[in-house]
Amino acid sequence: MDLPRPHERPTAFDRMLTPVHRWIWSDTDRRVQKLLRFGETETDGGRDILRAAEVTSDPLLRRLYLEHAIDEFRHGVLFRHRAAELLRASQTGSNTGFQGDWLAPGGHGLDDLQVDGESDQNMLAFLHLSEKAAASRFSVYRDVMQHDLPTRAIFEEILHDETFHMNYTLTQLARVEPRLHKRHLWRARLSRLWKSYLRLATGIAAVLGSILLTIQYFVLLPPFAWLAKRAARREHFGWTKVAPGRNDSLDRQY
Ligand SMILES: [Fe+2]
Ligand SMILES: [Fe+2]
Repeated sequence: MDLPRPHERPTAFDRMLTPVHRWIWSDTDRRVQKLLRFGETETDGGRDILRAAEVTSDPLLRRLYLEHAIDEFRHGVLFRHRAAELLRASQTGSNTGFQGDWLAPGGHGLDDLQVDGESDQNMLAFLHLSEKAAASRFSVYRDVMQHDLPTRAIFEEILHDETFHMNYTLTQLARVEPRLHKRHLWRARLSRLWKSYLRLATGIAAVLGSILLTIQYFVLLPPFAWLAKRAARREHFGWTKVAPGRNDSLDRQY
């Protein structure tokens, strides 16, 4: 879909995290990993939207969902091809170090999409917010990608589509639910907020867990290691003579 639309401006939260995004994307290995993950998210999202096209009874939505799904599949291919190019150019292989996924999740959050059993209204509200989030993040990613112009061009191109997705889902939501579309948006917003909280809490718990285990390793383990070494030094070397009384009976263990 290539309708000219104004680009979404990043949210204050995404703008605030710009230095973190810049750092995350500055490393080639990390960039490869993130592009591969983004490619996966886009393709999975495309598959879910294809399913939404199957289940909706609205002919206009079906056509729009189909075009939308094609866009998402294409985004997946663009991300994967770029990751492959970077991988070939770096020739170092790619490590799986810190990716900051809970700070910079893969674009949409379309991976949270549950298609079956959802009404058109809920689906459109969810898609609108997901596309809006994607447009906001991708505009930040594009801006921090000064050092990698081909990747920047991909974000620019995809951003164009995400902005269109963001706009058509809102227009269609207002069409199918003229009176209550704001309520659907709020409900979808609260659901996304809860999922973001869970993602953030999981990330923080992982960091805290690593810190606590490291502290335990350096603080609690040394005294036990010292005691074990001291006990080992007191042990007699070789065979130890057993008191004669202990050899009396073969009916018991000791
Ligand atoms: Fe996309
Ligand atoms: Fe999209």
